[in-house]
Amino acid sequence: MSDPDPDQAPGPRHVAIIMDGNGRWAARRGLPRAVGHREGVQALKRTIQSAPKLGVRCLTVFGFSTENWNRSAEEVSDLMGLVRAYVGSDLARLKREGVKVRILGRREGLPPDIADIVARTERETAGNEQFRLQVAFNYGGRADIVDAARKLAASGEAIDEDAFGRALSTGDGPPVDLIVRTSGETRLSNFLLWEAAYAEFVFQDVLWPDYGEAHLAEAVNAFRSRDRRYGGRPAVPA
Ligand code: FPP
Repeated sequence: MSDPDPDQAPGPRHVAIIMDGNGRWAARRGLPRAVGHREGVQALKRTIQSAPKLGVRCLTVFGFSTENWNRSAEEVSDLMGLVRAYVGSDLARLKREGVKVRILGRREGLPPDIADIVARTERETAGNEQFRLQVAFNYGGRADIVDAARKLAASGEAIDEDAFGRALSTGDGPPVDLIVRTSGETRLSNFLLWEAAYAEFVFQDVLWPDYGEAHLAEAVNAFRSRDRRYGGRPAVPA
């Protein structure tokens, strides 16, 4: 069966996910946190495969926040190692399947080999148009807003909402329709602060390593049952 025609699908076109609960998933099994993160990568791969079947054209995931540097040196190094392994094993497939990868967040401060991997991944997938994968890495929503403000101030461009939105690291992508957080937590944790203005939110009580197509379908269906008004009147008067 072919994927739904993206122009006909009812949305959401852009889903952003806070992939939470890797540590708890591991702790419940008496396993090191690193195993939870490794299983988290498997859940991410499943989600990338499932999203187009549900009409989603862009997926943004929170891979590593500016606050995550405060975790133990061992855990930070495990997470960096997973990025190396993921890109090493999956870049060819992402290219083949038409996925354009964009990394959101500050490049400064990344280990040099990760900065190279990020640049190479973006360069080699730049021409792809089937699907867009945005990975927030060394990302914080406030830092991204500050960086956009600095960029606009330095360029001298007139500042309005459109110009500001374009200056963010998500600026050349589609608007965020739906933000999902797993593991039962109900915070935004400095993710996509500007972009969340008119997004719908779905909080799911599943730990990220257990996430699969049925969970994504549940979130998409919840989105479709919402009445998005953007501050205006209801589509059908009450
Ligand atoms: C939250 O679980 C998850 C993270 C901090 C990172 C998510 C990372 C991955 C899924 C793998 C690496 C990413 C890429 C892009 C290859 P947590 O550790 O906060 O869980 P807890 O709240 O249960 O402790």
